[in-house]
Amino acid sequence: MRIGVAGVGRIGTMHATNLAALDQVDEVLLFDPVPGRAAQASAGLPGTKSVDDLAELLTACDGVLLATPTTTHPALLREAVAAGVPTLCEKPIASDLDEMKALVEEVEKSGVEVLVGFQRRFDPAVAELHRRVRAGEVGDIYLVRAIGNDANPPDFSYLPHSGGIFRDLLIHDLDAVPWLVGQPVVEVYASGSVLVDRAFAEADDVDNAVVLLKFAGGAHATLAGGRHDPLGYDHRIEVLGSKDSLAAGLDPRTPLTSLEPDGPRAHDPYPGFPERFHRAYLNEMAVFADVVAGRVANPSPARESLISLQLAEACEKSRRSGAPVRIDAGPRLPGGPAVPPKAGQSNTEVTA
Ligand SMILES: NC(=O)c1ccc[n+]([C@@H]2O[C@H](COP(=O)([O-])OP(=O)(O)OC[C@H]3O[C@@H](n4cnc5c(N)ncnc54)[C@H](O)[C@@H]3O)[C@@H](O)[C@H]2O)c1
Repeated sequence: MRIGVAGVGRIGTMHATNLAALDQVDEVLLFDPVPGRAAQASAGLPGTKSVDDLAELLTACDGVLLATPTTTHPALLREAVAAGVPTLCEKPIASDLDEMKALVEEVEKSGVEVLVGFQRRFDPAVAELHRRVRAGEVGDIYLVRAIGNDANPPDFSYLPHSGGIFRDLLIHDLDAVPWLVGQPVVEVYASGSVLVDRAFAEADDVDNAVVLLKFAGGAHATLAGGRHDPLGYDHRIEVLGSKDSLAAGLDPRTPLTSLEPDGPRAHDPYPGFPERFHRAYLNEMAVFADVVAGRVANPSPARESLISLQLAEACEKSRRSGAPVRIDAGPRLPGGPAVPPKAGQSNTEVTA
């Protein structure tokens, strides 16, 4: 099997390395419009070869991974789908909800498999959490808590194009948490502050944020994320239910120091997302190759990514207005129970 990688920047190079290490992948083809970049990446990576343009890449590969800047995703995804090539597109596939809706319709009409690169879905511990929640092992869900803290802020030149903290950082948990719970979100409340650097305020953004999600069955989730953690990169999800209380992302490398005598002390904390999600990224590539080969079902389809973007937009609206935002019925998650909102449950003021 030959897999193409379009865009060999930060994450494309990492994905290409992981793809080249897979037994089921014979060759990885690399394309980047910056002259010499693909050839340079290929020179250091056995099992890869650079090609000169996207058309050549799409003709020669069985599946393609798009690791290009977000603004290029819709056009490149359309090209890949038109060529009939199964695609893994980095998140998000589009940064505007209406554009994403149109894109999802086109993808589904084509019948071509498109996976979205939400790596939490491929993380072994998060996937096991999902399995246990859906198998009923946690019982009735009372509360989900997710934390997503970067170690250090991104380059400030990135901020005006990032889409803001909800679309850029919290989008991962806005995908993962509803996917875990399997019920529609009916209400969102979000708040944010600038505490790390004034550059975030100048970009009309915040650098720390909290989100409260209310699910149709009455359970809540709290999501907290920020752009600076002095100890390292911290991502955890905890689920408390009537039968169990489980956590993913809590291990000796979690950047957290307990003050209890026998509590954990952060040891060699994760410096960034590549280290924290190393196993997830490896697994993501293996699953992608299996989807291309038709061996497994697509675990992160394009339609489901509409949910996270819809919620991210609602979060931004809530942060700006200071009011909760009601979520109109959106796409239902497969396997999730259809739970109608209880009477009198919502006290929302704004509708997304
Ligand atoms: N899932 C994750 O954990 C995660 C982490 C980081 C980034 N991302 C996503 O990955 C994408 C890329 O981010 P990055 O940080 O690697 O960016 P980057 O800027 O480091 O790399 C992007 C590369 O794409 C190339 N490129 C630009 N236009 C192209 C085109 N038309 N065809 C082919 N290549 C093109 C650029 O030359 C560059 O080499 C973004 O959408 C981002 O949101 C996801």
